[in-house]
Amino acid sequence: MQLRNVRPDDIDAYVRMRCDPVMMADLGGPLPREGMADTVRRDAQQAAADLAWVKVIVPDPVAPDVVAGTVTIRFRDIGEGPVSEIGWMVLPEFQGQGVGKRAVRALLEQARDQDRWGVVHAFPAIDNAASNGICRSVGFRFLSEVDVTFAGRVFRTNHWAMDPGTDLT
Ligand SMILES: CC(C)(COP(=O)(O)OP(=O)(O)OC[C@H]1O[C@@H](n2cnc3c(N)ncnc32)[C@H](O)[C@@H]1OP(=O)(O)O)[C@@H](O)C(=O)NCCC(=O)NCCS
Repeated sequence: MQLRNVRPDDIDAYVRMRCDPVMMADLGGPLPREGMADTVRRDAQQAAADLAWVKVIVPDPVAPDVVAGTVTIRFRDIGEGPVSEIGWMVLPEFQGQGVGKRAVRALLEQARDQDRWGVVHAFPAIDNAASNGICRSVGFRFLSEVDVTFAGRVFRTNHWAMDPGTDLT
C-alpha cells in the first residue's frame, strides 16, 4: 500500500466517496456533485503546501491509478481552538479487507516519525462500527460522546484521541 498526496485529477474518487448516499450514510448524507472539483483542488493545494495531509490510498503500487480511498490529518476547530483531526474513507470494493486500518496506521506512523500534529483526534459517528473499530485497534483512547459538524451538518460522534509518539499499537 502507498499513500500519496491528493491531486486535482482524483475528482472521480472524491465524487464516488462524497456524493454517494451509502458512503455518506454516517456523515450526514451525500454532498452535491457541484463543488467537488473545488473541494479536490483545494485539498490538493493544501497537501502540496503541507498545510494539511490529504492522502489517497493506492493499494497496489503496480497500479498507481487505482485509488481505494482517502486518509487525512488537518486542523479543525471543535469549539476550543484547533485540534489535529484524522479522517478516512474507503471505497466499497476495498472495504472489510483491513485497508482502512493499514492506511490510518501508516499515516499516524508518518506523524510520529516527522513529529507532526501532536495529539491526533478522531470523531466517528457513534454507530459507525468499522470506524470505531479502526480507532480501537490502532491505539486511540475513547474520551466521550460529542456533537460535531461535518459539511454543515451536526451529528453525534465518539471522540477518540492518541499521541502517535506513544500510543500507536
Ligand atoms: C469506515 C471505513 C473507512 C472502514 O474501512 P475498512 O477498510 O472497511 O475497515 P477495515 O477493514 O480496516 O476494518 C477496521 C476495523 O473495523 C472492523 N470492521 C470492518 N467493517 C466492519 C463492520 N461493517 N462492522 C463491524 N466492524 C467492522 C474490522 O474488523 C476492523 O477491526 P479489527 O481490527 O478489530 O478486526 C469504510 O467502511 C468507509 O469508508 N465507510 C464509509 C465512509 C465512512 O464511514 N467514513 C468514516 C467516517 S468517520
